[in-house]
Amino acid sequence: MKIDIELLRRLENSIDTYNPETGEVPIKILGYGEISLVFEIVGDPEQLAYKRIPIFDNEEQVERHIWAYNEYSRILSKEVGLNIPEYDVAWFKDENEKIRFYCVQKKVMSESVGNRVIHELSEGDINSLVLLVMRDMKKVWEYSNNHDTIDLGLDGQISNFAVIGYDPKNPKIYDNTELNYFDTSTPMFRQNGEEAMDAKLFLKSTPSFLRYLVKVAFLDEVVDRYYDWRLVTIDLIANFFKEQKSELIPGLIQQINEFFEQEASEFDIKAITFEEVQKYYTNDKRIWVIFQNSRKIDRFIKTKILRKQYDFYLPGKIKR
Ligand SMILES: Nc1ncnc2c1ncn2[C@@H]1O[C@H](COP(=O)(O)OP(=O)(O)O)[C@@H](O)[C@H]1O
Ligand SMILES: [Mg+2]
Repeated sequence: MKIDIELLRRLENSIDTYNPETGEVPIKILGYGEISLVFEIVGDPEQLAYKRIPIFDNEEQVERHIWAYNEYSRILSKEVGLNIPEYDVAWFKDENEKIRFYCVQKKVMSESVGNRVIHELSEGDINSLVLLVMRDMKKVWEYSNNHDTIDLGLDGQISNFAVIGYDPKNPKIYDNTELNYFDTSTPMFRQNGEEAMDAKLFLKSTPSFLRYLVKVAFLDEVVDRYYDWRLVTIDLIANFFKEQKSELIPGLIQQINEFFEQEASEFDIKAITFEEVQKYYTNDKRIWVIFQNSRKIDRFIKTKILRKQYDFYLPGKIKR
């Protein structure tokens, strides 16, 4: 993969965490994650998506993360059989010796990403899309069941999948449609029960005044839920609240419960109810609103009062 490190250096030197698209190197934001900012460089002939992850203090952490990222991507694509865009990493130390790190991927067409396509597809095709997601997830949990030493997790949000061969002018899901899964920058796998990624790094984006609280209250719960297929599925369904498509939820739940019963009966997964998805969503929303607001306060203190640098890009208002 051809990655222009000098260009990335210039980008980081002219950083503006309030208005990331107006710096010296023109970028276009493709998405915000919980800790990462995903962007492309305008006019890049390579068509790459950069996921900027500002959480590393030393090279040892970087090396471990690169290993976990490569291994997770390899297992998912080569062994589990998911489609993953071509990937690489890039990193360097800037002039202040700060580590700048990116997971890099071939860009997929933005219109084909799950949270976009569900606003274009018919209800029947949305159901087919969700079924494709469930079948991809089944491969992941089947793999874990068949491998004693490895446990795989997945973030099953609809925004982590893209429809291969999607035509924005004729939005459809066909019998042979396949999906890309691209959220691999937070590797979710355990070897002999040990988390491949240093889970403490998740906390790096948490304001220090909240860190202790999050660690005690949520960290294990937050990480564990990515390894539990039923919880990952509830999270997927709850996306439809966030995307203002709650009218589809009862139908989706019914289809998913049928899927568990017919296509994945060996997993013995208890049927999902509307009430529990709703409760999960309300709770999840509350956690993230507290989290995002406290990050804004943290950013204000760091940049406006202490006149220090703030490393994270924060999304604007998220409609939930
Ligand atoms: N390879 C890619 N091509 C195009 N857009 C992408 C790509 N990877 C991520 N994105 C966009 O950025 C968003 C966040 O990326 P993701 O990998 O899911 O990271 P996070 O862990 O932060 O959720 C995605 O929902 C998608 O809209
Ligand atoms: Mg994601």
